[in-house]
Amino acid sequence: QRLEMALESIEKGGYPHFMLKEIFEQPRSILDSMRGRLIAESDHMMMGGIREFENKFVNAERIIIVACGTSWHAGLVAEYLIEDLARIPVEVEYASEFRYRNPIISERDIVIAISQSGETADTLAALELAKSKGATIFGICNVVGSSIARATDAGAYTHAGPEIGVASTKAFTAQVTVLSLIAMILGSKRGTLETTKLRQLMVELESIPAKVEKALELNDQIIAISEQYKDATNCLYLGRGYNFPVALEGALKLKEISYIHAEGYPAAEMKHGPIALIDAQMPVVVIATQDSSYEKIVSNIQEVKARKGKIIAVVTEGDTTIPAMADHVIEIPETSEHLVPLLSVIPLQLLSYHIAVMRGCNVDQPRNLAKSVTVE
Ligand code: G6P
Repeated sequence: QRLEMALESIEKGGYPHFMLKEIFEQPRSILDSMRGRLIAESDHMMMGGIREFENKFVNAERIIIVACGTSWHAGLVAEYLIEDLARIPVEVEYASEFRYRNPIISERDIVIAISQSGETADTLAALELAKSKGATIFGICNVVGSSIARATDAGAYTHAGPEIGVASTKAFTAQVTVLSLIAMILGSKRGTLETTKLRQLMVELESIPAKVEKALELNDQIIAISEQYKDATNCLYLGRGYNFPVALEGALKLKEISYIHAEGYPAAEMKHGPIALIDAQMPVVVIATQDSSYEKIVSNIQEVKARKGKIIAVVTEGDTTIPAMADHVIEIPETSEHLVPLLSVIPLQLLSYHIAVMRGCNVDQPRNLAKSVTVE
């Protein structure tokens, strides 16, 4: 038993939990997920699985993404990316709903299955269904040789390395990295993404690992914020645009490991319900980086403030407007709005981790949850 404990602590690389180790591994895992696929300096972008089915992808009538949990959130980010950069209509489906609702699928559809483990039963069944209707199936998996990876026509591994913590962290950012590359490659092949914009995005994506490193320096500040909210019973996460899926992911992380009830919402939907919950006891995490929806989210912050909600705002470095309104301001490095989820999710992962630790929860193996769900 002592040996087992010693081995485990070596595996954790000096971190108290796998989850924290995996959060801190992200500069490296993101780099690994784009290694050989992107070299901005020489204008190089390559993905074997896409090249193999290039015609199908370029002429796709529609892309349907199927996934569960955190992988489904990565799929939502991809919807914004692919529609914006490559102008192909995208639908993002919970695998468990898709497989049972007699979906319309044609041979000109591409179905992308996203799965860290590559073993999620619903995702596997969803792709088998799409395959039987003649769609081309593309997999984005982390575990090499997994069932989903084997069942697809082509795919791209995320190369994030083994993820042990049940709550997914580095797998999510690796998925978003791969999906960003796919959207950029498709945008360039379809001529929907101008060369100058493409180049900018390539340079920006390459600089993400260093910016994640910087975002991780927020750890101490986030410990202090966690201290203040560890006894909360509810928490609301708001974001717009590319940060809407991040709001969902932040809320999922908090409920998974700290057992605090949390909900993610597109900020503008707040007035259609959740605003009724806001009072002085309600922490509201608002992801309000400098992007096309900035002005709108600033007014959402004012709406929360008017009801005395406590605001924890994730903003772009140097923001001068939001600090005057928010109770706490977490500054992340500036990047293109297309890539912002790779940075804005980092403080949210840390926030849920520290709150869960302070509440004495089993962070790596939360109650009732499994790392891979191989049953329906
Ligand atoms: C489980 C895990 C989640 C994960 C989801 C989908 O619920 O606890 O962390 O996001 O399954 O898993 P997959 O391996 O398909 O990405």
